[in-house]
Amino acid sequence: MKVLVIGGGAREHALCRSLSQDPAVTELHCAPGNAGIAQVATVHPVDQLDGAEVTALARRLGSELVVVGPEAPLVAGVADALREAGVPVFGPSGRAAQLEGSKAFAKDVMAAAGVPTARSYVCTTPAEAAEALDAFGAPYVVKDDGLAAGKGVVVTSDREAALAHAASCMGTPSGREGGGRVVIEEFLDGPEVSLFAITDGTTVLPLQPAQDFKRALDGDEGPNTGGMGAYSPLPWAPEGLVEEVLETVLQPTVDELRRRGTEFSGLLYAGLALTSRGTRVIEFNARFGDPETQVVLARLRTPLAGVLHAAATGTLDQLEPLRWDDDAAVTVVIASEGYPAAPRTGDPIEGLAEAEAADGTAYVLHAGTRAGEDGRVLSAGGRVLSVTATGADLAEARDRAYRAVGRITLQGGQHRTDIALKAAQ
Ligand code: AMP
Ligand code: GLY
Repeated sequence: MKVLVIGGGAREHALCRSLSQDPAVTELHCAPGNAGIAQVATVHPVDQLDGAEVTALARRLGSELVVVGPEAPLVAGVADALREAGVPVFGPSGRAAQLEGSKAFAKDVMAAAGVPTARSYVCTTPAEAAEALDAFGAPYVVKDDGLAAGKGVVVTSDREAALAHAASCMGTPSGREGGGRVVIEEFLDGPEVSLFAITDGTTVLPLQPAQDFKRALDGDEGPNTGGMGAYSPLPWAPEGLVEEVLETVLQPTVDELRRRGTEFSGLLYAGLALTSRGTRVIEFNARFGDPETQVVLARLRTPLAGVLHAAATGTLDQLEPLRWDDDAAVTVVIASEGYPAAPRTGDPIEGLAEAEAADGTAYVLHAGTRAGEDGRVLSAGGRVLSVTATGADLAEARDRAYRAVGRITLQGGQHRTDIALKAAQ
């Protein structure tokens, strides 16, 4: 199978790594990719938001499967362009991707499907926002309605800060989906779980749960980020969680979208809070999570291409049950100085080979990197690397990942030191 992956982060590197190990994959391409992906796939410089350009590339390569990684091309309709051209594609249509692209749309779908989520108001004026904040009380949860790469959410007990974020969301210039609207919702207590499911629009196949670390600093301090690390499995998760979420969240959502004529095929990501009052959806995403994908795929034994192809071609019901490693996996993100507010780029990264060679159990997935002229690898984004390791348990996987992190130098680079710490103890 000739496969083309769209995107260029650590999630796409993880996807490419798994696909490159699948004997069914005869050719692997990635666009635009990054310096690490270039080691396992042929990379192509394209504008990943341009459906015509991506489709032309897929045609030229004779791609039999295109996997769209990030949300922005999905919301821009890149999967639609590929489907219209008859190319099997893993990823939802632009309309179905509104499940991630518009929080207001997601809330509407959840209400119709009876999916448990935080109560919320969609507001368009400061007065409405103030009223909604007071209706729920502190801590306040204020979300930009549109895509914000995980950074559009402010959770705070400071009413002034909540109002200020609401005002900045409503003031966003149009031209972006959902700009001008803000979602204010009740605070959900309890630990968070990321649960991914592969779907062809009808059949839903959950993957193993993972946990992400969204805040920039140790102890869940600092601003929200795209995610600073992840681990799987979750030894503390209640038994039957996956089955419960399949029944109460994933299947009803997929069924409701099909009923609306907005069939969702691809990866449905449920961000969940296990609250004292039961499981609630915090958000949906329309694609693999980053960095959770790095740990989920590290444990998946079933070759990946066949699974994604079955989703792309509506044949998931014929797939054998997925097989998983009992091993644990941990990934630690190394981000650049200033991330998330103002990441600095262009710094050389040293120690990549040493990190992988140390004991052969850790590997480095590239996020924002590019090849420099002198053969060095340079930072090129906020999240730079995702250092991943497996082990017999979380403690061993963690140990191996952090040992590898310790061999890497990036000037000003930052990482959390407590990824999977509590769960490993
Ligand atoms: P989101 O972009 O909706 O995933 O939000 C990013 C992060 O903000 C989540 O992972 C949570 O940590 C936090 N968050 C979002 N919504 C809520 C909520 N209703 N209650 C508590 N925390 C939330
Ligand atoms: N790790 C959170 C996300 O992918 O949105």
